[in-house]
Amino acid sequence: MVIIDGKKVSVDLQQELKAGVEHDRAKTGKVPGLVVIIVGQDPASQVYVRNKAKTCKEIGMNSTVIELPAETPQQELLERIEELNADPDVHGILVQQPLPRHIDEMAVTLAIDPKKDVDGFHPVNVGNLVLGHLDQCYISCTPYGILELLGRYGIETKGKHCVVVGRSNIVGKPMANLMLQKLEATNCTVTVCHSASKDIPSLTRQADILIAAIGKARFITADMVKPGAVVIDVGINRIEDSSTKSGFRLVGDVDFDQVSPISSAITPVPGGVGPMTIAMLLKNTLQSFRRSSGL
Ligand SMILES: NC(=O)c1ccc[n+]([C@@H]2O[C@H](COP(=O)([O-])OP(=O)(O)OC[C@H]3O[C@@H](n4cnc5c(N)ncnc54)[C@H](OP(=O)(O)O)[C@@H]3O)[C@@H](O)[C@H]2O)c1
Repeated sequence: MVIIDGKKVSVDLQQELKAGVEHDRAKTGKVPGLVVIIVGQDPASQVYVRNKAKTCKEIGMNSTVIELPAETPQQELLERIEELNADPDVHGILVQQPLPRHIDEMAVTLAIDPKKDVDGFHPVNVGNLVLGHLDQCYISCTPYGILELLGRYGIETKGKHCVVVGRSNIVGKPMANLMLQKLEATNCTVTVCHSASKDIPSLTRQADILIAAIGKARFITADMVKPGAVVIDVGINRIEDSSTKSGFRLVGDVDFDQVSPISSAITPVPGGVGPMTIAMLLKNTLQSFRRSSGL
């Protein structure tokens, strides 16, 4: 059984991106720029935004964080996005979610120029992903990170049955659509399960590649997994644990202790899919820079 080390892969990838940024800077005199907008004071979002900005700087990209008060009117946010769309030094725009209730998330997503939508949430990018125009879109970062992990660990996908549990717009749906594409690194038969699916264990037991993106601690148990399957755990769930200083710890959607002995490869939580997400955001930002610079 192989433990897929997302932390190590993300560090390797960041080094490669850093070399790419330096190479492009030597050629053009410019570096990619990512702007992250955060509206309000959500503590978890503030941590994510700080991490994104820090990693961005570490690899030599420009990073700007725009902090707006929670009561910012939607129109003002849309106008800020419009300015960034027109700024040639900005290659990636990300608006951290969740947004305050008075702001319509879809209106914000639609306001971002698809060419700068490095989160890959804009319908133009989602549509191009579904159509298989991957050279014209940005793939949303978590599914893209999973694809990168499968590729780097040499996991064969062609003709395999991939079962995705979860159909959210940011993970399950783009993941399923990606694995369906007729590409070297995908080309799977895909099944998607959700809360209305009947007899989920009978579906997950058919998976050669099982991807869990549910948001329920240790939902996937050993009896739901075919021996030898590759198991990708997207879930990040806080559970109480009195033995830790904070009183809680993070676990995935897969019962790692039960499932890891029967899987052929598995991502741990933490240290699996999670660290890849920021790395893929930066990969998308570098890609946007290259596309806009004709590189
Ligand atoms: N590693 C990362 O970087 C990363 C990134 C994003 C998310 N996450 C984590 O991944 C998990 C999923 O995130 P998300 O944004 O996709 O969550 P989400 O928007 O809440 O979607 C959860 C999906 O799971 C399905 N589901 C819920 N309960 C189910 C059940 N009992 N049986 C079958 N399906 C069920 C839901 O079905 P319905 O559609 O029918 O409601 C929904 O499609 C969360 O733990 C989140 O924290 C991690």
